[in-house]
Amino acid sequence: MNIKLGWQLLLCWLSLTMASNITTKKPLRCIMYFTGQHPVAPPVDQLRHVTHVAIAFMSPGVFNTPENTNYPLFTTVKEVRALFPKQTKVLIAIGGWGDTLGFSVAALTEETRQIFAENVASMLRITGADGVDIDWEYPGGNGEDYKKVPNPTKSWEISSYPLLLSQIRTAIGPHKILSAAVPGLPRDMLAFTSSTLPRIMRHLDFLNVMTYDLMNRRDNKTKHHTGVQLSIEAIQAYVSAGVAPQDLNLGFAFYTKYFRTEHDSCASKAMPLGCPTLLLENPQTGEDMGHAGGFSWHDSVPAEVSKSFMKALEQGQYDDKEGGYYFWDEEDLWWTFDTADAIKRKFPLIVDKLKLGGVFAWGLGEDAPMYEHLQAVNEGLDERVSVNNDNNKKKKDEL
Ligand SMILES: *[C@@H]1O[C@H](CO)[C@@H](O)[C@H](O)[C@H]1NC(C)=O
Ligand SMILES: *[C@@H]1O[C@H](CO)[C@@H](O)[C@H](O)[C@H]1NC(C)=O
Repeated sequence: MNIKLGWQLLLCWLSLTMASNITTKKPLRCIMYFTGQHPVAPPVDQLRHVTHVAIAFMSPGVFNTPENTNYPLFTTVKEVRALFPKQTKVLIAIGGWGDTLGFSVAALTEETRQIFAENVASMLRITGADGVDIDWEYPGGNGEDYKKVPNPTKSWEISSYPLLLSQIRTAIGPHKILSAAVPGLPRDMLAFTSSTLPRIMRHLDFLNVMTYDLMNRRDNKTKHHTGVQLSIEAIQAYVSAGVAPQDLNLGFAFYTKYFRTEHDSCASKAMPLGCPTLLLENPQTGEDMGHAGGFSWHDSVPAEVSKSFMKALEQGQYDDKEGGYYFWDEEDLWWTFDTADAIKRKFPLIVDKLKLGGVFAWGLGEDAPMYEHLQAVNEGLDERVSVNNDNNKKKKDEL
């Protein structure tokens, strides 16, 4: 009798713990930015893993006027929803590179935060979207205007940012999704520290860590713009500041970048990583010196680099040490971008290893018309779905 009861309890405990493993093992998040620059999508079968689509962008400035009812967007939630699987959540991304003024205006006082938050809630009611993604690049400074409006004049934003998020959460309620796109370079993480992040995460469902553009005009040495080691450093900065890995998404870039380099010091290196570029931006004004560029897979290749780009596709290599596809053209161009293969490698190297909650890409239409990089993301997710299923099945069989 006692033995039998013991067995029953054991079985009961086993099935409970196993069932909880099965039900709590969430599939990875997969978020696609649907951008105004390339507002297209492939057939829905290729979007089977997409858990969220974030329509980019609505301008933060439209949320500063009390009781606004007009929220301009290049498309509608209804149109976008129709392109995706039924279960895909539709988010409105607010902000983007260079569009920060409306956030600063919003963050300033209790009252301005309230106006912004209530407008966000009203926008969600009007559009029927499932949530918002806050793309403030960046609270505390280092945005597009960083040479004209110095960071110290924005330092107050660092403590106001969590307050703004808090008020948005209160206004939209617990069931709508609230997420944020956050910087991938430590030098830009002014508002993302161990003292602010716990307060930030209280209000958010997840963070999209922009693990791309990690080499940009503000650099003076060649790097992988969306490299594995740099991505790991970015993610680890958030984890060590207290964010649960499950709440972090890794960013993929569906576009290329190139930078003009000096000749001799790059040519003399076996591996032209860390070699000097030309001066990429004006140190006084922050203006583009015209020595760097990039384009998505959907764009036409600029004529002045098209030959070099062909070489980059044919002769480029994967750097196993730092993790990234690259090509240095002797005519002094550094190319850095993710091939489909480079994307696939990031699943075991970053997503699995750091136990991340998901991935995202900028952006879906940027990969048209071939969608080869989306395909690589799908393959990575296919493998992980079947591993989860196999594990669950195995556990059930053992029972
Ligand atoms: C449930 O998952 C945890 C963590 O993944 C693991 O340590 C544990 O052994 C699993 N339990 C069962 C009963 O499979
Ligand atoms: C390169 O940039 C670093 C900071 O990122 C700076 O300390 C250094 O002086 C720069 N070097 C040159 C040659 O401009």
